Amino acid sequence: MESYVIRERAPAWGEAAVTKPKVVLGVSGGIAAYKACELLRRLTESGHDVRVVPTDSALHFVGAATWSALSGNPVSTEVWDSVHEVPHVRIGQGADLVVVAPATADMLAKAAHGLADDLLTNTLLTARCPVVFAPAMHTEMWEHPATQENVATLRRRGAVVVEPAVGRLTGVDTGKGRLPDPGEIFEVCRRVLARGVTAPDLAGRHVVISAGGTREPLDPVRYLGNRSSGKQGYALARAAAARGARVTLVEANTGLPDPAGVDVVHIGTAVQLREAVLKAAADADAVVMAAAVADFRPAVYATGKIKKTDDGGSPTIELVRNPDVLAELSADRALPGQVVVGFAAETDDVLPNGRAKLARKGCDLLVVNEVGEHRTFGSEENEAVVLAADGAETPVPYGPKEALAETVWDLVLPRLRPLPA
Ligand code: CTP
Repeated sequence: MESYVIRERAPAWGEAAVTKPKVVLGVSGGIAAYKACELLRRLTESGHDVRVVPTDSALHFVGAATWSALSGNPVSTEVWDSVHEVPHVRIGQGADLVVVAPATADMLAKAAHGLADDLLTNTLLTARCPVVFAPAMHTEMWEHPATQENVATLRRRGAVVVEPAVGRLTGVDTGKGRLPDPGEIFEVCRRVLARGVTAPDLAGRHVVISAGGTREPLDPVRYLGNRSSGKQGYALARAAAARGARVTLVEANTGLPDPAGVDVVHIGTAVQLREAVLKAAADADAVVMAAAVADFRPAVYATGKIKKTDDGGSPTIELVRNPDVLAELSADRALPGQVVVGFAAETDDVLPNGRAKLARKGCDLLVVNEVGEHRTFGSEENEAVVLAADGAETPVPYGPKEALAETVWDLVLPRLRPLPA
């Protein structure tokens, strides 16, 4: 006689699913559906058990056979297949993460209003795990108040809605609405899964991060610059986006690709950085100045290339001070309770210099790290101490810049002003 086991949770989808994190990849009907194949491949290759749930219209773009072959799991669009398994409930209940990529305007609307007319929308209602939406649509549809309100509703409920990328759309038009690079969406999913939280703790927040190093032009071919790679600032931006924040990244000369779900403002000089950061900070809950900002710039910009002279002499370059953006942000907060974070790159007497700098700049937190020709700049790792204005000191052991980024947000979080009711 058969024995029955009553389970509280859904049975595992795939054979080896006991140990693999289970991800539902929802695909709605947009041309960017083909990019979800690459996301699926990355998820499966990195050890996730993926169940693809396309909508009917998604199958106009990529067929069920492709999803099934790439995921190794059955694929269905509606609730009437394998009814004995109660798929409209089981798939969502058993998931550790649901990611919808691409999410069309129609899908966002259905999700925001709780409609459930196919397997994917049913799955979204039954899932109690983190949910990531990666929207893709034309700019007009994205900017429409209906879509924006639906996105705000989903974010308020705790979903991570990745900002679309700017670029070429279907056809000849360009603008905001492109599905971000699948590698970037994968990165968001990986971080959301790693944190294992159902409610992103920076949801409803706007954070501004500066990254990279400014360049101060001397003439049309030369500049004064520094060795900052921007990787720490990018790690902060990615971490904040995965924790649900709206992120503005003011980028200076990094050459790095734009992270998914982040509004990126590209600038060159310290003066441009100041303008972009102050503008974005006007409604920000927190500002993190990870950029290496040049303290000085040439007093005069030579419109033609500075040439060598026959007398063998060398030119004298007069420098003038640049504005101190961090000190200005700290002294003149755009909003009461705005949290301001600085970075201090020190080569000697690291902690005493850091403490003095924290007091001088007037920020809430200062991430102090030791730099040198072969330390920190350009590397994937970092080691730091985070000093707080209230005297707290948090050492962050040598490790990935990603880990330092998470610690910074962990320390920012309790200092944020309460969200409006
Ligand atoms: N910073 C800034 N504006 C500047 C210089 C620096 O906003 N003109 C910010 C950096 O983004 C960083 C912090 O100030 O968050 C500290 O940068 P650092 O270069 O360590 O300090 P400096 O102010 O340049 O001080 P010093 O060169 O004397 O060490």
